[in-house]
Amino acid sequence: MFVTVTKSDVGVRVGLVGAGGVARRHAGTLAAMPEVELVGVVDPDATRAADLAAEVGTTPAADVDGLLARGLDAAWVCVPPAAHGEPERRLAAAGVHLFVEKPLGLDVALAEDVRDEVRAAGVATAVGHHWRSSAVVARARQLLAGRNVRLVVATWLDRVPPVPWWSQRAASGGQVVEQAVHVLDVARLLAGEVVAVHAVVDAAPPAGGDVDSATAGTLLFASGAVGTVAATCRLGWKHRAGVEVYADDLAVTITEDKLEVRDPEGTWSVEVDPAVARGAADRSFVDHLLGRPGPGTVVDYDEALRTHRLACALADAAASGATIRLDG
Ligand SMILES: NC(=O)c1ccc[n+]([C@@H]2O[C@H](COP(=O)([O-])OP(=O)(O)OC[C@H]3O[C@@H](n4cnc5c(N)ncnc54)[C@H](O)[C@@H]3O)[C@@H](O)[C@H]2O)c1
Repeated sequence: MFVTVTKSDVGVRVGLVGAGGVARRHAGTLAAMPEVELVGVVDPDATRAADLAAEVGTTPAADVDGLLARGLDAAWVCVPPAAHGEPERRLAAAGVHLFVEKPLGLDVALAEDVRDEVRAAGVATAVGHHWRSSAVVARARQLLAGRNVRLVVATWLDRVPPVPWWSQRAASGGQVVEQAVHVLDVARLLAGEVVAVHAVVDAAPPAGGDVDSATAGTLLFASGAVGTVAATCRLGWKHRAGVEVYADDLAVTITEDKLEVRDPEGTWSVEVDPAVARGAADRSFVDHLLGRPGPGTVVDYDEALRTHRLACALADAAASGATIRLDG
């Protein structure tokens, strides 16, 4: 027996907070769902809010309070890392369920604070770790079940993303917190909790920014497995983002669009459309809000906070030169 947690009679009334690139993606997916009504879009850039609202058949609101006045079941919070906190607090206090884009913020303290307020408000949460909704991640999980993972190699080798805030550490948190957090989340899912990290960086920043150009980190998992994290933003293209997992006689490589497997019997691979997992993350949360049983994956705020802690620990380790221990 599932309990419907929305206030609406017919479905889920959704507001969008942020009208940039990722909000546009979510808005398109949500607008295509018959059970979802998009009730408004908020962005300090009023033109952006108006443009996105028009694209998906709704109207802009002046601010979060203006959105709340329209009556909401849920909000998709799609703001840059430095803008997290206030929107979540205000919405949760009003009893609005939250889909929050990663990362949860620039540091752990704010995310823990939001986690506490969200818990106290009793609202449902999901975070945009859509890799977990991918068929290749699910298949990798099946293949690794019951095996001892020995080594994890997580990589994010990319260009500087084309958003103005990304190269500023105070706005984005840097590449590991903002981007590599996706592959760290998959690493945790497949190999368990990390108990210690160390990292070094190439601190020479990309043009106009102050984030590191490259990070090389090490991970020690609670299981005894070890791992590495390699990230750079100094390519002119997205080169590779993925997770390699090595167990006894099994090598598994996961990217957003492919799973490659090698074992003593040979090598095989399967390709998927990454758009499917992205859409599935939205679908799963809407189903959750409607109280529908479904196979989908919802990564809630608590679970995402564990991954965020790991990403922040790597950033702290890089800044301090120290080995940082986590609770596991
Ligand atoms: N899960 C994914 O695959 C994925 C993909 C892309 C981006 N993201 C994440 O989504 C977030 C946004 O990325 P983006 O590419 O859409 O950035 P963007 O710059 O294109 O859009 C962000 C928008 O948020 C607005 N904004 C800033 N402060 C706000 C506030 N307080 N209230 C409402 N709106 C506010 C900005 O004006 C801007 O329009 C980032 O944290 C990014 O990491 C996730």
